[in-house]
Amino acid sequence: MTRTLITNGTIIGADGRTAGDVLVDGETVAAILAPGQASALGITAAGSDVRTIDAAGKYVIPGGVDVHTHMQLPFGGTEASDTFETGTIAAAWGGVTTIVDFAVQKAGEDVIESLGAWHDKAAGNCAIDYGFHQIIGGVDENSLKAMTYLVDNEGITSFKLFMAYPGVFYADDGQILRAMQNAGESGAVIMMHAENGIAIDVLVAQSLARGDTDPRFHSLTRPAELEGEATNRAIQLAKVAGNVPLYIVHMSASEALEEVAEARHKGQNVFAETCPQYLYLSLEDHLAQPGFEGAKWVCSTPLRTKHEHHHADLWKGLRMNELAVVSTDHCPFCMKDQKELGVGNFSAIPNGIGGVEHRMELIYQGVVNGELSLERWVETCCTTPARMFGMYPKKGVIAPGADADIVVWDPNSTTRIGVNDKHHMNMDHSAYEGFEIDGKVDTVMSRGAVVMENDTFHGRAGHGQYVKRGLSQYLV
Ligand code: URP
Ligand code: ZN
Ligand code: ZN
Repeated sequence: MTRTLITNGTIIGADGRTAGDVLVDGETVAAILAPGQASALGITAAGSDVRTIDAAGKYVIPGGVDVHTHMQLPFGGTEASDTFETGTIAAAWGGVTTIVDFAVQKAGEDVIESLGAWHDKAAGNCAIDYGFHQIIGGVDENSLKAMTYLVDNEGITSFKLFMAYPGVFYADDGQILRAMQNAGESGAVIMMHAENGIAIDVLVAQSLARGDTDPRFHSLTRPAELEGEATNRAIQLAKVAGNVPLYIVHMSASEALEEVAEARHKGQNVFAETCPQYLYLSLEDHLAQPGFEGAKWVCSTPLRTKHEHHHADLWKGLRMNELAVVSTDHCPFCMKDQKELGVGNFSAIPNGIGGVEHRMELIYQGVVNGELSLERWVETCCTTPARMFGMYPKKGVIAPGADADIVVWDPNSTTRIGVNDKHHMNMDHSAYEGFEIDGKVDTVMSRGAVVMENDTFHGRAGHGQYVKRGLSQYLV
């Protein structure tokens, strides 16, 4: 098997930075060597079998782990536009080496069959490694039994429930409590879409009846209070169920963050993620763009107003570990034929923003802007997502024995984001069109194979393997 030495770089981990070389042997990290040690051991000598990647002036970080993606998700009368192939290739371009996507069970469907359908979509098509969470869209005796089966046999240890989308994925409080009790027995994590969907549906109907149909009303009918209220309710239910691990997904509102912070300070097993769209994009500057343009930014939870302090609070929450993870909630839809389904009715616009290619860059910009340290960037985008969802230390860290999922990051280069700059996601627009980032993905290695280098993709669909996950390793 070929060996590779990534040399002269600064290795960044969640716990610090160090000058050193990373020796990769086959698919895993063999050793971290002090500067000069490799040549002393003859590893870089002419005639050795070692390929060298020079990372002088660059950072060497674990491959990104994006634990919230929706490839090929049937949703809103259409299907998310990235396949597992196009989406994972785009992810690799962006320095992501593992995704965890969501298999979907709807009410009345068999959970294990629905998981099989997601395996069929992904197997042989992914350019990087992938795992699954399971959405339970119908909590009943059968799905509860299946949850335990998935934890014990399938490497699926996290289940997403919805307090939003009545009639689609919605679970009522009793169903949520039962699913949480079940998760408590098996050690699984409950992931929650925390918005009060019943109240939102009333506001949506009233808005449409008034003739307020533009995309911006998507946010105005999903007020921050209803995210805060649902987050609080989920926290109380998880407590009643026996301090069951609860992970709030795609958090956008200060009100929700306050609830999580309070629960964490009380010692409850509550965690949360946010996404780049909630850190950078706003109701006024994006969703409220004239005409139908704002449809590009329709997602749930929605973009929040810039006139309150949601954006600053989320950055602070990331610094304070009230928010543990940054994921993308990558759920791409093209404007043409997809977002257009909601012309004249914002509630028919498919919900979702694509961003799997840009999370590492966008959060690195937070480092440049003084919001986060380099270590916290790696922690929130690589290490904690791996630990939270039972993939550590195979994923999320550069250490002997770990999978050689490695990104060489060039802090002295820049990235321009957008369709005009040829992004790789299967989308006819970008939510971040024209953004300029101070830093660039230079080289990406997935299980020892270089999949991106010199602005060229060298990977292949089918390289990515299914990751059977263990229980969360990140409980308070
Ligand atoms: O707008 C979003 N978030 N679409 C994807 C589905 C979900 O709720 O995560
Ligand atoms: Zn959701
Ligand atoms: Zn999602």
